Amino acid sequence: MPRTEPIKAVRGVRDVLPRDRAAWRAVERSASHTAKRFGYQEIVTPIIEREELIERVGSDTDAVAKELYRFEDRGGRKLALRPEATAGIVRAYFEGGLNQGPQPARLYLLGPMFRYDRPQKGRYRQFFQFDIEAIGSPSPAVDAEVIEIGQGWLRAVGIRETDLQLNSIGDAKCRPAYLERLRAYYRPLKDQLHGDCQRRLETNPLRLLDCKVPQCQPFKEKAPRITDHLCDECAAAWASVRRLLEAAGVGYVLNPYLVRGLDYYTRTVFEFYPAGAAGQQDALCSGGRYDGLAEAEGWPSTPGVGFAGGIDRVVEVIVAGGQEVIAAPAAEVVVLADAGLEVEAAEVARICRQARSTVADYEPRSLRAKMRSADKVGALFVVLLSADDAAARKCQLRHMATGEQQSVSWTELPERLA
Ligand code: HAM
Repeated sequence: MPRTEPIKAVRGVRDVLPRDRAAWRAVERSASHTAKRFGYQEIVTPIIEREELIERVGSDTDAVAKELYRFEDRGGRKLALRPEATAGIVRAYFEGGLNQGPQPARLYLLGPMFRYDRPQKGRYRQFFQFDIEAIGSPSPAVDAEVIEIGQGWLRAVGIRETDLQLNSIGDAKCRPAYLERLRAYYRPLKDQLHGDCQRRLETNPLRLLDCKVPQCQPFKEKAPRITDHLCDECAAAWASVRRLLEAAGVGYVLNPYLVRGLDYYTRTVFEFYPAGAAGQQDALCSGGRYDGLAEAEGWPSTPGVGFAGGIDRVVEVIVAGGQEVIAAPAAEVVVLADAGLEVEAAEVARICRQARSTVADYEPRSLRAKMRSADKVGALFVVLLSADDAAARKCQLRHMATGEQQSVSWTELPERLA
């Protein structure tokens, strides 16, 4: 049936067009380069996972309670589109036997995540993360290492000034007593909190600390701070992480209200913001330690730490900063042939491809228009093919930067283009 409206993209998702890919590619390349320099290996996990695996991230977290794309497949299995990568990577670490290899397993992943969030600038329903995980070590040195990777990546893409916010949220040993203190502090204030916070007071009181609703702000300052109530082990780890960051020259700001949106965190949590934008803008990178996640998924208890960087946001920051990303030409060589020479043009293009990326322009338009278009794609060379030249298996090779043009035989092309 004919439609009255053309079919457009789904709300909250975006196309990355070729003109924008150069910046994306630079950001992705820096990500894998930085990860590899620290000895991290690439892992690819599925975009679909069992809903129950994803729920281990925390059933009261926004990513699961409000934003999860859930569906049933044709076999009646309850599945979800991954809202983040950590739960799947921890699963793959055990299923793939990485727990048997050298520890910690140092892994990185680049790929799309899905959250049914309210779309706005910097927040998309399909977005891309650079995810780093070090699984199998409780050492605070690894916490500092992943933070250094995050900073290294942001520096490498040209974001030199960042604010690193840091906190510790304790562990299963010390957090319950702290949460009781926090509840005791907030209970008399319950009526003055907004709806979600009233509910969270009993279910997930830590989240009261990172609530952004104005009416809840005045009570934060006097709230007990978890870093004053850590057990000895957590306090020692917390001191080590800070000492290691200082030794690495990584500046940070202590933020007692940083608790993170996902439930699996223990001890170190952190977020990187563009300089001066903490609290006003969304984080570029965020993560922390998650020593309880493996067990929550039903695997042997195993510590882990990592972070994820938002590629969409990092690309937006560097584009807004006017940083020029040199776009690779769509094709280095363009073959422009007279009408009726499609077979010959295709053959010449095939020969040129031995040396450089090449397209043949088959469009029925003037030579002038074709030259303009070759210039636009960033071609370094144009190969002009007339019927006479084609009959002699020759062509005109034009160097775009100098305008120099020479008659060359087809067989010489790879050598002349190299
Ligand atoms: P997250 O804070 O939920 O953590 O997300 C990490 C980063 O992904 C954010 O800092 C942000 O840059 C980006 N991001 C999140 N949601 C969106 C969105 N809707 N649109 C665009 N970008 C977004 C995690 O995902 C954890 N798995 C990080 C981690 C790894 N912790 C330990 N290991």
